[in-house]
Amino acid sequence: MKHFLVTGAAGFIGSVLSARLVRDGHQVTIIDDLSTGKTGNIPDRCEFIQMELGADDLKVLHGRTFDAVFHLAGQSSGEASFLDPEKDFRSHVTSTFDLLKWCKENSVDRFIYASSMSVYGDPVTLPVSEKADIQPKTYYAAGKAAAENYIRLFQTLGLNTTILRFFNVYGPGQNLDNMRQGMASIYLAYMLKGDTVQIKGSKDRFRDFLYIDDLVDAWLKVYENPVTWGQTYNLCAGEKTTVETLINQLRDAFGEAAYPIEYLEGTPGDQFGLYGDNAKICKDIGWTPQVNLQQGLRKMVERTRQGANIG
Ligand SMILES: NC(=O)c1ccc[n+]([C@@H]2O[C@H](COP(=O)([O-])OP(=O)(O)OC[C@H]3O[C@@H](n4cnc5c(N)ncnc54)[C@H](O)[C@@H]3O)[C@@H](O)[C@H]2O)c1
Repeated sequence: MKHFLVTGAAGFIGSVLSARLVRDGHQVTIIDDLSTGKTGNIPDRCEFIQMELGADDLKVLHGRTFDAVFHLAGQSSGEASFLDPEKDFRSHVTSTFDLLKWCKENSVDRFIYASSMSVYGDPVTLPVSEKADIQPKTYYAAGKAAAENYIRLFQTLGLNTTILRFFNVYGPGQNLDNMRQGMASIYLAYMLKGDTVQIKGSKDRFRDFLYIDDLVDAWLKVYENPVTWGQTYNLCAGEKTTVETLINQLRDAFGEAAYPIEYLEGTPGDQFGLYGDNAKICKDIGWTPQVNLQQGLRKMVERTRQGANIG
């Protein structure tokens, strides 16, 4: 049995990852400030510490040790990062710096970070590979890029670190109340309420959607495999999906032939389109995504209707 610290695990991805770790027989301590997360998402048998990383002191962890720190906490919306850039900075940059320093001082030598495809901005070459330039268009993306650089520094100081750049992660448990993060969850939330689906920006924009269970499988393989130490990976399905295709597939999964849609102005810093090259992670950890978008959206709609992890 191992003991993991998972940050942000009252949120979507961290909670599903923690539930899996508990199911696999591990001990999990969770830190979350509940800014968007919910206590109802925290899996049973996890220790929960409520604090704001980047603002509150980590001395609360005194006396504990962990086999690894999985850092997923952070304000998760590019759009919202324009509303409070200082808070966004604390939640990505200061939180990461504080945790890295704590790991070094407390002999925790494994650190995995949830970064984002947002660091690429609008890449020139698609699918975008890890070698592409970093061109942040939001405070959120700049914070992720800065956090990545602190992680690279601590790698040289003796920590075994891995940076995972998530693309669009979706699935059951995604926060349907946060209308500023997550295309699939935002559009599904409108459909569930019977409201007109409001789309901010063009239907021709495109993204790369990865189902939550595929992400968790990849994360655990990354943890288990020392080849990933010191590496940065795209974590994505490697498939281009336009907003229009997403809406059509979501509508099918929802069981409606048509749905009222209203197009609004785009959001500040929105990336027009990108999808990722996942060859590096597939090769290094022997992983391939198992759930395609149609299957994933069906599972999401079905589980959401059953009330799993929602509300
Ligand atoms: N969902 C995606 O498609 C996606 C894509 C790229 C990157 N990411 C990153 O993955 C991570 C998890 O995303 P998610 O979709 O689960 O988002 P989420 O908003 O559901 O979860 C983030 C959690 O972090 C907590 N949090 C925020 N700031 C905090 C702080 N300063 N201290 C402690 N807790 C704090 C929130 O309360 C929330 O529970 C985030 O870092 C996000 O930026 C997500």
